[in-house]
Amino acid sequence: MKEIVVTGASSGIGYELALQLAAPGRRIHLVARSEDKLEALAGLIRAVGAEAAVLPLDLADIEESGLALDKLLAETSVDELYLAAAVSIFGEVKDIQAEDWDRIYRTDLLAVAQWTQKVYAQMASRRTGRIVTVGSLSSYAGYPTSVPYAAMKAGLLGLYKTLRYECKQVGVAVHFVAPGYVDTPIFDTAIYRRSSSKATRQQIAEMGFGMLSAKESARLILRGVAAGKSEIVFPGYAKLLSWLAPRFPALLIPIHNRMVKRFRELSA
Ligand SMILES: NC(=O)c1ccc[n+]([C@@H]2O[C@H](COP(=O)([O-])OP(=O)(O)OC[C@H]3O[C@@H](n4cnc5c(N)ncnc54)[C@H](OP(=O)(O)O)[C@@H]3O)[C@@H](O)[C@H]2O)c1
Repeated sequence: MKEIVVTGASSGIGYELALQLAAPGRRIHLVARSEDKLEALAGLIRAVGAEAAVLPLDLADIEESGLALDKLLAETSVDELYLAAAVSIFGEVKDIQAEDWDRIYRTDLLAVAQWTQKVYAQMASRRTGRIVTVGSLSSYAGYPTSVPYAAMKAGLLGLYKTLRYECKQVGVAVHFVAPGYVDTPIFDTAIYRRSSSKATRQQIAEMGFGMLSAKESARLILRGVAAGKSEIVFPGYAKLLSWLAPRFPALLIPIHNRMVKRFRELSA
């Protein structure tokens, strides 16, 4: 039985990843807080002949979720780990609260580091495994008016960029995923400071990049993983901007200035 763990499986990209990964001979371990949504997904997964295990956890509670992860690892040899759980935030830095930083840090960076470290240690001892971390275009390019989120996503890129060298010698594959905009509930559940879901969606629509579906995003991620791609960046504009950002940062200045200006207009 192939053991696959997906965090953020109750919604969006994680949900679609779990569903598309489901096949006979595989057990998908579903992690998120919303137990009812995970149970419903588990039913769909079982219907295609795969096995499903529901692990309702608040990943931001590092101590509790760490104990649950230890238990999982004592019982299960994890073959693949997909880290998709995250929470987003929209607001200017001057309006961000200390509790926002804490929540985004714990959910988007510390929990990912914790799960990566513990699962990687088991995989390294077995000399096999795969870890797929869902970062963001903002990992490469930043994201004005979403500074804590972009900072954590940049941290994940740093984690990936350095872990990839350690893991090669021990037979563990790591992949970093950087999507552009994907139409998911992340824009409804985000923390908003002097802004709103409606304003954010309007601003994204005005930028003209469009939004991929979660289903298509999961398909692109799994296609990239199957092809052995280590950095999976999509769609085309995200690929271009992630390439330009470290090489020609000045080219992003007009886009970022416009983002701040429009954010202020819409939140006024
Ligand atoms: N949507 C985009 O435009 C976009 C773009 C780039 C990157 N991404 C990244 O893609 C990944 C998936 O995002 P998405 O857009 O699919 O968002 P989503 O639909 O909001 O899904 C986020 C998932 O994370 C889980 N989660 C959040 N806080 C949690 C916590 N404290 N403990 C456990 N689970 C928690 C949520 O489940 P519960 O609420 O049930 O806990 C949910 O399953 C994220 O890493 C995100 O940063 C998204």
